[in-house]
Amino acid sequence: NLSNKTDSTIGVLVPTISNPFFSEFLQLLENYSDAHTHILMVGLDGDRSQLYSAIEGLIGQNVDGLIIAVAIQENSQVTNLLKENRTPYIVLDQNSSKNSDFIASDDFHGGEIVAHYLYSLGHRRFSVVVPDKNAMTANLALRLQGFTETCRDLGIQTTQIQIVKTAFTKHGGQRAVPNILAFKPSAIFTLSDELAIGVLGGLFNAGEQVPRDYSLVGYDDTDYAEFTNPKLTTVRQPVELIAKYVLEMLKNRIADPQIDWQVMAVDVELIVRDSVREI
Ligand code: RIB
Repeated sequence: NLSNKTDSTIGVLVPTISNPFFSEFLQLLENYSDAHTHILMVGLDGDRSQLYSAIEGLIGQNVDGLIIAVAIQENSQVTNLLKENRTPYIVLDQNSSKNSDFIASDDFHGGEIVAHYLYSLGHRRFSVVVPDKNAMTANLALRLQGFTETCRDLGIQTTQIQIVKTAFTKHGGQRAVPNILAFKPSAIFTLSDELAIGVLGGLFNAGEQVPRDYSLVGYDDTDYAEFTNPKLTTVRQPVELIAKYVLEMLKNRIADPQIDWQVMAVDVELIVRDSVREI
């Protein structure tokens, strides 16, 4: 129990540790947890088929609570496992959650603000780089939906939007570039900074310049965004707040499993740097 200062262990499950968003998140959890709280981390390395066994493994380590940053709400095997074991847990990176504590980052709004921003600078033809089926989760689908629905409301025809599916990694971003070049958008929106970094590298290799030839917007505002050339315009998820809330809320749940479901909404915002130009 966290409240009476005996040692406790919290299991954390993320889709991958190498994505900077998740490595920052894990680091912050370490920073924010006190000396009596041990953090046990598991990354799925992008392979969601390992979800069940990873959670089973963490429960087997007698964790006092779990932080789950992988969409589980459609996986009844996993939700049943958690229920049967009565393990306190909190989820993030889902589009909703009825039966657990939940941190809700406004993914739909994230997509929406990118569409408005690009439109306001004259962009009318877009490539959106999204994860393939293997890594596509409900929260990422909401980001895409926020973008495409806003474009539709702004009068942009669906033929002006190319959706490029690729691995949810830097390499995936780089491999998406030939498809993007063939479509010739004026702006590219990637659903993570990691993808944006891959796209940036691929464009550079192809002799294309950002933002002269293509504008580019990422998502997350990881600390890499300030170190790319040009600096990346991106949607910021407040990862410090998310890490802080997630620990607090899990602590409350462990202290009193009977309290009502806690839901915390966090806002996203556009961070304008140098990777988009007006056309
Ligand atoms: O970069 C990783 C992304 O996947 C983040 O945006 C996070 O929210 C997750 O869903």
